[in-house]
Amino acid sequence: MKKIKIALTKGDGVGPEIMEIAVAIAIEAAKKDGIKIEFAPAPMGWNAYEKYKDTLPKESLQIVKELGILFFGGVGDPQYDNTIGRKHPEMMPEARCLLTIRKELGLLLNFRPMIFYKALASLAGVRKERIPEQGIQQHYVRFLLEDEYFGNKDLRSEIGQEICEKFGVKSKEKVSGNELIIADIAYYKKETVEKYFRAVFLYARQIGLPVICVDKANVLTRYVFWRKICQKIHEQEFVDVALFFLYVDSANALLFTPEKLRGVIACGNAHGDILSDGAAEAMGSLGMMCSSAINPDTNAAMFESGAGTAPLLARQDKANPIGRILTAAMMLRHIGAENGAQAIEFAVNKVLLQGFRTFDIASNSDDPKKILGTKAMGEKIFCFL
Ligand code: IPM
Ligand code: MG
Repeated sequence: MKKIKIALTKGDGVGPEIMEIAVAIAIEAAKKDGIKIEFAPAPMGWNAYEKYKDTLPKESLQIVKELGILFFGGVGDPQYDNTIGRKHPEMMPEARCLLTIRKELGLLLNFRPMIFYKALASLAGVRKERIPEQGIQQHYVRFLLEDEYFGNKDLRSEIGQEICEKFGVKSKEKVSGNELIIADIAYYKKETVEKYFRAVFLYARQIGLPVICVDKANVLTRYVFWRKICQKIHEQEFVDVALFFLYVDSANALLFTPEKLRGVIACGNAHGDILSDGAAEAMGSLGMMCSSAINPDTNAAMFESGAGTAPLLARQDKANPIGRILTAAMMLRHIGAENGAQAIEFAVNKVLLQGFRTFDIASNSDDPKKILGTKAMGEKIFCFL
């Protein structure tokens, strides 16, 4: 059997209980492709702080960089954010861990595919009759670097101390609340945006769907640039792929009429963050969203699922593990375990079609005996692999 080593962060909140299941499923499913997955612990988050006095211990970052692939259980917990986090804002784990890893590994592409079958219409947040016969296909590909997420950090040294002070360009830990002016610099680089759109069009061509380019080009300069680059790459290299444009506010409104929003949705960092959570809720629950972040040059990858850590549900066996399990399928596909990936997706659909639910996706008409806890839902899915 071929061995593949993957860094593993169990994370905070519901992370450990969900990851236990997702890891077992990943290991089992990968066997179908003759792959033996070994996980190397890379602790991060507030749980790691207790031992290492750091939410991103350097040992963990080292393992992630060495292996170039991470299965991530989510970090962050308001209980600690509001206590230790107040004294040590630089340790707040969401930004510290996620942004550092995205940057260090160069994770430009954030795939958040939302695929939804008509047969599961009762799960959806949007009205049933809004779900088209052919189901919903919204493949969010969020641009995961630069933009306002990284602007201040990336450009501060180039801008220089004096201008930074004059315009309030600072790291967020240093904000006092008494500044006269404060700025988040949002930027895009030509090379990165070109690379991004090439990857987006290639993906759309592979899955046979149009590209929907989301932006705010009616107001924002960087999105005029974004749209021009998109048009150029399209005209020069991908005329066979259909292309549409949408302003981000219109895209947001269409989350409630998903029949009008079908394709590969190309969106900036902040736009993608917001739209993908909305889409996941419109379709059912944040707990169902799977997510991967990829460096298109090196293939380094992080499999994170967008659901957060839901600390209020921790240790209650209540959280929905499906998003994380579907994220494991994305991870298997990435390492070449296609049979395993398909087996996971098949098992999830089977369990849902048989009426099994976790409480976040259950409705009054569901059979109470079929409303399962985290562990039982994971075991059901495991059984169908
Ligand atoms: C996500 C999350 C992160 C983001 C946060 C936790 C930094 O919301 O992955 O969508 O905004 O990218
Ligand atoms: Mg988010």
